[in-house]
Amino acid sequence: MLKLIKKWLGINVKSVSSAIPAIELDKVPAHVAIIMDGNGRWAKQRGLPRVAGHHSGMKNVKKITMAANEIGVKVLTMYAFSTENWKRPKEEVEFLMKLPQEFFPLEIEELIENNVRIRMTGWKEGLPDYTLKAIEGAIERTKENTGLILNFALNYGGRKEMIAGVQDMILDVQNGKLQIEDLDEASFSSYMLTSDLPDPDLLIRTSGELRLSNFLLWQLAYSELWFTEAYWPEFTESLFMQAIAEYQRRGRRYGGI
Ligand code: IPE
Ligand code: IPE
Ligand code: MG
Repeated sequence: MLKLIKKWLGINVKSVSSAIPAIELDKVPAHVAIIMDGNGRWAKQRGLPRVAGHHSGMKNVKKITMAANEIGVKVLTMYAFSTENWKRPKEEVEFLMKLPQEFFPLEIEELIENNVRIRMTGWKEGLPDYTLKAIEGAIERTKENTGLILNFALNYGGRKEMIAGVQDMILDVQNGKLQIEDLDEASFSSYMLTSDLPDPDLLIRTSGELRLSNFLLWQLAYSELWFTEAYWPEFTESLFMQAIAEYQRRGRRYGGI
């Protein structure tokens, strides 16, 4: 913990006083989901091609994972590529698809040292073989790890997930595995790709956009939302801690009083 605090001190002296004392380690959100947005604008601001932003954004993933791990977050879901992102220029999509084969060889040892387990939420169909090979290799190598789950939402879309879930559900009704009257929120959740994960407690979106962009539509029903103007490549541990601290100050009522 002290090591991390020293690191924050080095990064942003001004925000330290608001970041350090505020975190209560017994009230850390179990599942944090992040929409890593703003890579393209970050690059444009610096006169660089959009893909330079994606590269810089990739470099930020481990740093935030380590910060989350250090305070005891159990699941960190990172929105890396949506089902709508296929609309982007072919070159940009290709660059994004090549990032896992750079990210994992670079970071896997440190992730393993920290007991991090990799997983993926999204559709494997449609992903290039080299992308799949990189992520599946990392999933396999970390499958016995018991620490933080670093969950990449890759080729993921919330509406597609719900439609696929409803299709599976109807099949189960047709073959007698599910009775219509047994369908409730818990059984519906079991048809989602995240059926074995708790719903996110906290959603963070960078880059100043105030929307969900088809991310975890079912799961975010009662999540706390936190937005920052910072673009993803410039998102720091200190900002992450600010989000956690604000989460801890909120009262979650779930419709009660
Ligand atoms: C987020 O950054 C990364 C992905 C969506 C893959 P963007 O590429 O959306 O960056 P902006 O929002 O255009 O700045
Ligand atoms: C959401 O960002 C998807 C990811 C961060 C992977 P987008 O940049 O694709 O979302 P919109 O287009 O601004 O809604
Ligand atoms: Mg964007």
